[in-house]
Amino acid sequence: MTRMGGFIRALKSEVRSYAVPSRPARTFLFARNFFKHPKMLGSPIPSPKVLIEEVLGRVEWPAARVVVEYGPGVGDFTGEILRRMRPEAQLLVIETNDEFVECLRGSLPDPRLHVAHGSAAEVGNLLARLGCGRADCIISGIPFSTMPGSAREEILKATCSVLQPQGNFLVYQYSRRVFPSLKRVFREVRRDFRLLGFLPIWLFHCAP
Ligand SMILES: C[S@@+](CC[C@H](N)C(=O)[O-])C[C@H]1O[C@@H](n2cnc3c(N)ncnc32)[C@H](O)[C@@H]1O
Repeated sequence: MTRMGGFIRALKSEVRSYAVPSRPARTFLFARNFFKHPKMLGSPIPSPKVLIEEVLGRVEWPAARVVVEYGPGVGDFTGEILRRMRPEAQLLVIETNDEFVECLRGSLPDPRLHVAHGSAAEVGNLLARLGCGRADCIISGIPFSTMPGSAREEILKATCSVLQPQGNFLVYQYSRRVFPSLKRVFREVRRDFRLLGFLPIWLFHCAP
């Protein structure tokens, strides 16, 4: 067996066991799923640290008691959200990919975290089931530009309806195509462009 073959086998078995996978193992799981579901993932690798800092630096953590994350993937944002969140706050993460759901459930044992397997469109029912009330902050990395327009609108309307009046919806995307849909649904939408290394990122800050 070559050295590379051995490395890939070790990563695969680490991913299969779902016991706190290392960053390379999580990146491998993510990349493997990108080749199976490119439109659902929208990117072949998880978000880099610099993007996570850029997005989470915009959240008012002292005011965030109910936080929701759409499309957590293998949990790079999720771990950092938990690190910054108040001890009594709750985090609901909603993910469509079953392998990522397994990975998240196995790797982040925090009683404030609730991992749901489903679509962001179900956010209303999922929050109600948790008895959390409305959300103070919703963070989204789902690829809005590669999904059908009707699915995008459904998620955006559901999101707007579950936010606190002073709540925020933070969206990061590799394209600005979602902007007109955001403007149709939210009262206020601010947008920012950042070049993070070679990565062009659009950030949208929406108020209901
Ligand atoms: C670009 S990846 C972002 C992953 C992670 N947040 C990160 O930044 O590394 C998009 C994620 O959204 C998930 N996703 C796509 N559509 C979704 C939907 N309708 N509801 C919930 N998750 C979705 C994908 O499975 C994938 O994990």
